[in-house]
Amino acid sequence: MFHKLSPPPPDVILQVMQQFRDDPRSDKVDLGVGVYRDATGLTPVMRAVKAAEAHLVATQDSKGYVAMAGDSGFHTAMADLVLGGVVPRERLAAAAATGGTGAVRQAMELIHTANPDARVWISQPTWPNHPALAQSAGLAWHPYRYYDAETGGVDRAGMMDDLKGARSGDVVVLHGCCHNPTGADFSESDWAEMAAFLDSRGLIPFVDFAYQGFGDGIDADAAGLRHLATRLPRLIIAASGAKNFGLYRERAGIYMVVCPSDERDTTQAMMAWLNRSSTGFPPDHGARVVTTILSDPVMQAQWQEELAEMRNRVNGLRGALATALRRETGSDRFGFLAAQKGMFSILGGTDAQIARLRDEFGLYLVGGGRMNIAGLNENTIDRVAAGIAKVLTD
Ligand code: LMR
Repeated sequence: MFHKLSPPPPDVILQVMQQFRDDPRSDKVDLGVGVYRDATGLTPVMRAVKAAEAHLVATQDSKGYVAMAGDSGFHTAMADLVLGGVVPRERLAAAAATGGTGAVRQAMELIHTANPDARVWISQPTWPNHPALAQSAGLAWHPYRYYDAETGGVDRAGMMDDLKGARSGDVVVLHGCCHNPTGADFSESDWAEMAAFLDSRGLIPFVDFAYQGFGDGIDADAAGLRHLATRLPRLIIAASGAKNFGLYRERAGIYMVVCPSDERDTTQAMMAWLNRSSTGFPPDHGARVVTTILSDPVMQAQWQEELAEMRNRVNGLRGALATALRRETGSDRFGFLAAQKGMFSILGGTDAQIARLRDEFGLYLVGGGRMNIAGLNENTIDRVAAGIAKVLTD
C-alpha cells in the first residue's frame, strides 16, 4: 500500500528551518520560523516557567490520565486570560489540544462534524498551515484578500468584497492579533465592522490567537476577540501557550467555543470525543505549567513582566530595523515595519531574491519575504538592513 503514496507538499517554514540548520556559516541569521530570541540568540525558558516547573516537580504526585478534554483548571485559566470574563461559563465549551496547531486542527474537525458543508475563509496571505489544517479535516476553504502591500496595512475593501462570497454557516478565520505573516492588525473599528458584517450574514468567526501579549499587551491584544464574543452568538477560538509562555515544544494549546447555552453541553461532549478519537488525552505538562503560573499571583506577575520584556524588545527591533532601512535605502519604503505588530512582517521579494539573501548574505527569510523580527538582534540589524537594501531594491 505505501508504494501508492506520493511525497507530501513541502512546508515552507520547516524547509527554511532545515536549510538554516544545514548552513555551516557562523554569521548566518535565522529570520524564518516564528520563535522569540533574546539578545544572545537564545529562545529562553521563562523564569516564571522554571518556577512553575520546580513547583510541579515538588508537589505533583501523579502522572495519571486527566480528562479527555484536558484539565478543567487549564480551561478556566485560559478562558480568563483570553476572554477576560466577558462570556458566562454556561456559554463556553473548551478542550485542551496538542499545541496551537492541534487546537486549530481539532476546531476544524469540530466544524466539519457540525457542518461538513461549511466553507472556511482564510486570509491571503496567512500562516501556511491554515489551509492544510482545513483540508485535512475535509473542509473546503477559500482565500480572502487581507494585506495591502502599498500601505503595509489591511486591505479593507478587498477583504469585505471577497467575504461577500461567504454564505450563512461558513466560517471566517481571523488572527486575533499579530497577524502571521503580515503583522498588519485590525483597528478597533475594523473589529466592530467585522462583527456587524459576520452577524448580518450568519457567518461564524474562528479566531486563531497564537500571539496574545506580543502586540500591545495581554488585554489590548484580546480586545477584538472579546468584542466578537459579546456581539455574536458563536465564536471559535484556538489559543496557545507556545509563544507567550515560551512553551513551544510542550504543545500547550486549547480551543474554545462560545455558543448559546443550550448548545454548550453537546458541543463540550463532542470536543472531548474528538480528542478521544485522535490523540486520546491531550498533553498535560505545558498546560499545567500555564495553569500554575496563572493561578499564582507572584508567578503571574513575573510572567507578565517577562512577556512585556519580549514585547518591548520586538517592538524596539522593529523601530531599529525601520531606521536602518531608511538609512540604507534613503527612502521610507520599509517604514511600515515600525507600525506593524508581533513577530512577523512581509518585506516582499521574489523567490530568486529570497534565495540571494540566503546564499550571498546568510539571511534566512520564508518565501514571500516573511521575516521573523524576533530573530534579529542589535548586532545583526545593520548587516540585515544592508543585505535587504541591496537585494530587494536592486
Ligand atoms: C511560524 O509561523 O513560524 C510558527 O508558528 C511555527 C509554525 O508552526 O509554523
